[in-house]
Amino acid sequence: MKAAAIVSAIVLLSQLVQGSPQTVSSTSKYLKNEDPIAVQRILDNIGPNLGAKAGIVVASPSTEDPNYFYTWTRDGALTMKSLVERLIAENDVSLIPTIENYIKVQLTLQHIDNLSGNFSDLSGLGEPKFMVNATEFTGDWGRPQRDGPALRATALVAYGKYAQKHNNKKFVTESLWPVLKNDLDYVTKYWNLTGFDLWEETSGSSFFTISASHRALFEGFSFASSLGHGNSSYLTQAKNILCYLQSFWDSDANVINADIANGKLLRDLDSGTTVGIIHGFDSEAGCDSTTFQPCSDRALAHHYALVNSFRNYYPVNNGKSSNEAVALGRYIHDVYYNGNPWYLTTLAAAEQLYDAIYVWKKQGRLEITTISESFFNQFGSVSVGTYKSSSSTYKKIVSAVSTYADGFVDMVAKYTPADGRLHEQFSGWNGTSVSAKDLTWSYASLMTAKAARDGKVPDSWGAKKVSAPKGKCSPGPVHVVSNDIISVKFVATDSELTGFGSTSIYVVGSIPELGSWSTSAAILLQGEPDTYGVYSATIKLPPSTSFEYKYIEKLNCPQAAVEWEDYPGGGNREGTTPKSGSLTLPTATFEHSDS
Ligand code: NOJ
Ligand code: NOJ
Repeated sequence: MKAAAIVSAIVLLSQLVQGSPQTVSSTSKYLKNEDPIAVQRILDNIGPNLGAKAGIVVASPSTEDPNYFYTWTRDGALTMKSLVERLIAENDVSLIPTIENYIKVQLTLQHIDNLSGNFSDLSGLGEPKFMVNATEFTGDWGRPQRDGPALRATALVAYGKYAQKHNNKKFVTESLWPVLKNDLDYVTKYWNLTGFDLWEETSGSSFFTISASHRALFEGFSFASSLGHGNSSYLTQAKNILCYLQSFWDSDANVINADIANGKLLRDLDSGTTVGIIHGFDSEAGCDSTTFQPCSDRALAHHYALVNSFRNYYPVNNGKSSNEAVALGRYIHDVYYNGNPWYLTTLAAAEQLYDAIYVWKKQGRLEITTISESFFNQFGSVSVGTYKSSSSTYKKIVSAVSTYADGFVDMVAKYTPADGRLHEQFSGWNGTSVSAKDLTWSYASLMTAKAARDGKVPDSWGAKKVSAPKGKCSPGPVHVVSNDIISVKFVATDSELTGFGSTSIYVVGSIPELGSWSTSAAILLQGEPDTYGVYSATIKLPPSTSFEYKYIEKLNCPQAAVEWEDYPGGGNREGTTPKSGSLTLPTATFEHSDS
């Protein structure tokens, strides 16, 4: 062999083993450069900086368009969790005062009575956000949001374990435990009532919130026990939550559903689910699918379907081949600030894969099931089975998945401005920064993705001791905020009734239960048994709630076009539920427009 041929053979071989060397190094370079910026910007956004009370995590310094100058329980908790993980992984003890200030001010926040409720029955802990001087936020909002206390509990447990180990037991018993106890009690008491999802839009139960609630109570129980406060109802409810969590898995469609409201699926493919999956990561739990571990077949199937939903969706994703990473938003058809890609959702997709690779390497094998095979087949045809780390298939897959994971970071890198500042979103058209500037959560997501890529994984939360639920969930989830739920009947007939079954009438409207104006989430009306041509649907709505609605028709054929009823004046129909009892709306006649 000629020298040149030998060299190129070596280059080829090393590319096979590590993916394209150029990509790998540019990904590392970007992360290495961005990581200190991220930490600094996070600290800049925590009080007393920005005039916020000490320990308050400000979502973003942006005070208008959008105004994010508040502290959200969710953003704050996830940010603190990332700082605690960094403290542990890097032994960066300079973070301790910030973390302890955060914990102390949470007790103040917990005691603020607010529009979600009060402290005495703990309902006020479901309030999503507060003013940065630690007072009540009194505006309209999607409330309550029940993920906050669960996420905060997890951040507190992580720090609590560290502090106990490092002889700071006094802080744990005097300052940390009182906050943690409120959060664990809140989750125990309220997890099975509906609330708004992490995107603050959908009222119901969400995979994200339910899985975070499970982790919080499961690890919360053992940590509380170590302090002599083990309350068996934490564990009992953790088991019930895990049982209910399984119902988000759709085994027909091979996806994890994001939200369930009134027994109805509202949005299936959602990046919030990926954020939930990485939050639940436990490097010692293998690829367990009951807890939806990042390398579980369910989580990989979700990854595959989610990423595909965004392929060719944004112009910045055009031209990527079918197994290359793309930019991800929250969910397709999102309209918030035009529904662009988000830094934190795109990075979450990378982090899930880094977590998966970590576990495959640790256990020395990977498994492909009929559920995950589409994910793996992206990288070349492979069969269902278990592949040991010595096999060439394993090596090929791990290398391809590493390159793929880096691709998500590379998208973020490509659309990070020169000063390294991360907003909430970047334009799907041209990648310029959009929405809230210096979003604390964007930076936290960068730090955790980098740590996962570097193999610096968070401490175990005990997920391997979780046993898969058997039989019926008990108690069944009670998905009502209030006991007064109103039955609302929608009735319609068609002015041009043609043949049987050629079209279907649906109702869609302004509130989540009516699909939030998304025609794909509209509710189908069924033929009334005794009245030919009259269709109806009865759904459950909260009392004293006003909504707008309209009827639509879809042809019963593939690629069905949607036709909106021609309602006089072009406006919407309106309804308001009573305080109690039920409501039957006036029978509507579906008029077709002449065009
Ligand atoms: C503000 C929330 O923060 C955001 O998530 C949501 O999409 C919009 N409100 C619209 O409801
Ligand atoms: C809107 C996001 O949807 C929500 O998840 C977040 O908590 C707030 N912005 C603040 O960052």
